[in-house]
Amino acid sequence: MSEKIRRLRRCQLSVPGSSEKMMAKASAMSVDYVFLDLEDAVAPSEKRPARQKIVTALNTLDWGRTVRCVRVNDLTTEYAYEDIIEVVEGARENLDMIMLPKAMSASDVQFVDKLLTMMEKKLGLKKRIGIDVLIEEVEAMQNVEAIAASTPRLECLIFGMGDYSASQGVSMRDIGGDGGYPGDIWHYQRHRLTIAARSNKIDAVDGPYADFKNPDRYREEARRAMTLGMVGKWAIHPAQVSLAQEVFSPLQEDVDRARDMIKAYDEALAQGLGAVQYEGKMIDIASVRIVRNLVERADLIGM
Ligand code: COA
Ligand code: MG
Repeated sequence: MSEKIRRLRRCQLSVPGSSEKMMAKASAMSVDYVFLDLEDAVAPSEKRPARQKIVTALNTLDWGRTVRCVRVNDLTTEYAYEDIIEVVEGARENLDMIMLPKAMSASDVQFVDKLLTMMEKKLGLKKRIGIDVLIEEVEAMQNVEAIAASTPRLECLIFGMGDYSASQGVSMRDIGGDGGYPGDIWHYQRHRLTIAARSNKIDAVDGPYADFKNPDRYREEARRAMTLGMVGKWAIHPAQVSLAQEVFSPLQEDVDRARDMIKAYDEALAQGLGAVQYEGKMIDIASVRIVRNLVERADLIGM
């Protein structure tokens, strides 16, 4: 079971697990990926009742092709182990993923991996539940390479800039990009996380943008993440879903050109050539590797 499952993550929509109304709304949204939250979107008094609300939502709503994930509480809390047990036992095959926030080290992810292995055996589950991990503490960023390689069950690293800002000491003004810092304050973190993810053949995703009434800035943040190799961005409000899914979808003309370029390269190879002209520019195996990323994404989307 070590081969990676490919899933669409152009948009990961966060939905408070305490809100039956928002979960019902999310199930009808044809978004790539939804995570029902037990962590920061849920007040401590609501955390235990939210588990059963989530189980009911997973078992009774029609989620279509949407990937169904639950974000549990972090491993320092009194909630995390029962979050996983109640949700997995309750939803079984109606759950695709567990999201682990505030992971600090590879062993945190391995704990969740082992617990899920035990539960899959006990429950006789026919499919493997995946893990996505939030990198949102400075310790986690220091350990990001080891975390990325921690278990084959891990599918994606997410950069959580909210908690990360608190952990590193970044101010609220700077998070919004209004602090006058010359350049993108998240360039290093997004780059480092994406390299760690890609070198383990897993996805990298960009975290939330809180100002949901500002589509231009949201698009800008999403484009920056995409440029560095990330495959998607969180949405915290329905208004952000189509923005993310648009930014992280390749243009049809680029997909057509990529497929054509691969064909031209294969024909050149058959004639014993490693480099040829394509639309007046040189292409070789490296050009083909670059555009294959695009074609793989297009295949997953069904373009
Ligand atoms: N998922 C599903 N539906 C959502 C939603 C979400 N994340 N956020 C808002 N909605 C719904 C609302 O219920 C409302 O539905 P209605 O028109 O049927 O009444 C509609 O979308 C419009 O919402 P709006 O009135 O603009 O905002 P709000 O005040 O209801 O909610 C927030 C604003 C920020 C409280 C809400 O978007 C939210 O809780 N987001 C998620 C927060 C979260 O998960 N944080 C943790 C991760 S960072
Ligand atoms: Mg967080």
